[in-house]
Amino acid sequence: MNTLVAIIGAGPAGLLLSHLLYLKGIDSVVLETRTREDIESTIRAGVLEQGTMDILEAAGVGARMRSEGALHHGIELAFGGKRHRIDLSELTGRAITVYAQHEVIKDLVAARLAADGQILFEVSDVSVHGIDSEQPSVHFTHEGQPQQLIADFVIGCDGFHGIARPCIPDTLRRDYQRIYPFGWFGILVESEPSSEELIYAQHERGFALISTRSPTVQRHYFQCDPKDDVDNWSDDRIWSELHTRLESSDGWKLKEGKIFQKNIIGMRSFVSTPMQQGRLFLAGDAAHIVPPTGAKGMNLAVADVRLLSLALDEFYKDGKQGGLEKYTETALKRVWRAEHFSWWMTSLLHRFEDATPFQQALQRAELEYVVSSRAAATVLAENYVGLPFA
Ligand code: FAD
Ligand code: DHB
Repeated sequence: MNTLVAIIGAGPAGLLLSHLLYLKGIDSVVLETRTREDIESTIRAGVLEQGTMDILEAAGVGARMRSEGALHHGIELAFGGKRHRIDLSELTGRAITVYAQHEVIKDLVAARLAADGQILFEVSDVSVHGIDSEQPSVHFTHEGQPQQLIADFVIGCDGFHGIARPCIPDTLRRDYQRIYPFGWFGILVESEPSSEELIYAQHERGFALISTRSPTVQRHYFQCDPKDDVDNWSDDRIWSELHTRLESSDGWKLKEGKIFQKNIIGMRSFVSTPMQQGRLFLAGDAAHIVPPTGAKGMNLAVADVRLLSLALDEFYKDGKQGGLEKYTETALKRVWRAEHFSWWMTSLLHRFEDATPFQQALQRAELEYVVSSRAAATVLAENYVGLPFA
């Protein structure tokens, strides 16, 4: 089988790249190990930056996001029993949309299939060959048959545990990593929203986050031991913990409901450089991970593939390689900014077991500053809504 661009992984990065290339008349094939049902139902991110919304809209896949997603103009920071609003739109002129990642996936899969795009689901034994040649290939098994996909370029959009990143030899790669000593316990709840905007809460018992999915389904998280088991958490224990961490002196109350999904995620910061080797390029979680506090992971994946689609278009239209050659350098500028912001938001809002009273007082001082200084609030806001593309 031949194509121009072989894409490994049908997450937001791989599917959007395939669609952006299609819009520029460039052929691609997407290989995915999981089933369509599985990728369309895995619960993950929820916050889309303004720039991500604009890209999805311009790519013709924004209709459902616009009608079913919720446009938010602010967020709240809660600490010391009080809530403080950060007015994102007033501070930056930009906003965010809360729209689940698996809904973005559904929209992208539908758009690819409507355009006769090729996505091969349930592939296995995926391996990459010849990345230092002009005709790399991907070997895999599909429907029991060994197959080869020969292409001009291979793009690894296969997430943190994928096979693409290790194809760049250790001797040429440098990885940067920080693993946090806590995780997030996430729940999905049948109830009305408790708040019109997201609430990020700092509390001595740990972080909590109130988010939403729809008028009838809510998404909440709280800091937990990453090695804990969801079975240790009865619904009553979860509500009790959330009520305590979100207690507020202004009468605001968290609305309870039927919890129908529970999961625990670990948290890490990770960057692998370079993001390319020969004809292999990495995008999204395959190259970098952020802790979820800043809501940046999916947005960074979108920013990476935007760059790749522009560079590949330039290559096929004008034979120019400049965008491709500079891909790592250009992408990493945004990646490191988001890494810093995500680390900073995480440090600002979580409980660190080993924090001294001095460090705890510094954390509170910084929170007070962010909600009282327009300059400090603007730093948070402009990073949260997403910096403009270069
Ligand atoms: P993935 O979504 O991981 O997709 C990779 C795909 O490749 C998968 O479908 C996988 O099955 C497939 N694959 C793997 N190996 C192979 C192989 N060998 N061959 C073929 N296919 C393969 N980000 C935000 O922007 N905002 C948020 O609010 C946010 N909240 C989050 C909350 C949680 C609880 C979690 C877990 C993450 C959150 N993120 C958030 C991060 C976001 O979900 C990821 O950054 C995003 O999914 C990255 O997209 P991706 O396409 O790079 O990788
Ligand atoms: C959601 C996830 C995040 O990581 C975040 O910072 C805000 C909201 C969510 O899943 O809704």
